[in-house]
Amino acid sequence: MLHYSIAVIPGDGIGPEVMDEGLKVLAALEEAHGGIRFTRDVMDWNCQYYLTHGRMMPENGLHTLKDYDLILLGAVGAPEVPDHVSVWELILPIRRAFQQYVNLRPVKLLKGLESPLRYKGHADLDFVVVRENTEGEYSNMGGRMHQGTPYEMAVQNNVFTRYGTERILKYAYALAEKRPKKSVTAATKSNGINHSMPFWDEIVKEISREHPDIQTNLYHIDALAAYFITRPETFDVVVASNLFGDILTDLGAAIVGGLGLAPSANINPERKYPSMFEPIHGSAPDIAGKGIANPIAQVWSLSMMMDHLDLPDASAVIMNAIEQVLQEGKVLTPDLGGKATTKEVGDELVRHIYLAT
Ligand code: NAI
Ligand code: MG
Repeated sequence: MLHYSIAVIPGDGIGPEVMDEGLKVLAALEEAHGGIRFTRDVMDWNCQYYLTHGRMMPENGLHTLKDYDLILLGAVGAPEVPDHVSVWELILPIRRAFQQYVNLRPVKLLKGLESPLRYKGHADLDFVVVRENTEGEYSNMGGRMHQGTPYEMAVQNNVFTRYGTERILKYAYALAEKRPKKSVTAATKSNGINHSMPFWDEIVKEISREHPDIQTNLYHIDALAAYFITRPETFDVVVASNLFGDILTDLGAAIVGGLGLAPSANINPERKYPSMFEPIHGSAPDIAGKGIANPIAQVWSLSMMMDHLDLPDASAVIMNAIEQVLQEGKVLTPDLGGKATTKEVGDELVRHIYLAT
């Protein structure tokens, strides 16, 4: 019997709503497929916790998390707490302390869905974005001065280390080696950002020389964003800095069905620390409490968790259940044009997991 421990952080808004369905699917998977067991401990770390305690997680929060095999996150963020607080005090410390330097985000059009790109089908939309997750533009180097005066100013520095840049690029190339297309596209902006991005480009070229069988494309981020729309079929592994990857993957989500479907994995490849799995989307205050959030992004993140655990069969069971529900098209949330609730979609996913066994 395989046994793993999960720290569950449902978070705010629709986070707990989609997490409930994710945990239901996980329970169904355990029951339907003997041989894997998960223990789950739920942490109430969110914006409500912040309003009560003045911090997003307890002082020893990271220490507590360190002993888990895995972390499952819903989403955080509430209108009463500034977004930079909820993100910087919960998600970013986890990504950094646990060296989850790879943020893996598939851009794949699932069976049963159509892309808003009129002429693009399933064969055209199947790539993965590898986003650097610990440095780059999301650094807290900088500051503000002269607040409240006409001279008020803000500086935010980008941080690109050789260590951090090499390791994300090496991961991207190693991933491309395992995929049939053998291609890496790196996002740059070395025409406008004249220190960090030429540095990034140099390291891309260095690492690419170690992989002569992989085709490397280096595109400026603005052109690359347009190519996501005009020729997504040319991509296989797309590697990008923290900010560029963040923006590209919301766009990536939009061309394969929207944020309600898009998952992500924050991975510590060395497995020294727990990795974290979450939907790309946030807490969606505009629909929170209505019971209509799409739980599929959260559930797909569970499939990525199974891949991380080298359990391809369990991963496939989850993906098949998602694709069955999408193909039948009867139980879908409003973002996919349906009328079903979050819970109804969760129940339908669970039903398909049992059907598969
Ligand atoms: P968002 O992703 O929460 O929402 C963007 C749009 O997508 C909204 O119209 C929302 O209704 C829709 N949407 C998102 N998830 C959906 C789902 N599962 N089903 C159906 N529709 C869905 O992004 P937004 O509005 O920029 O941020 C809201 C809050 O979430 C902020 O506090 C922000 O800081 C936080 N946030 C947290 C993230 C995290 O926890 N990793 C990531 C992104 C944002
Ligand atoms: Mg984002």
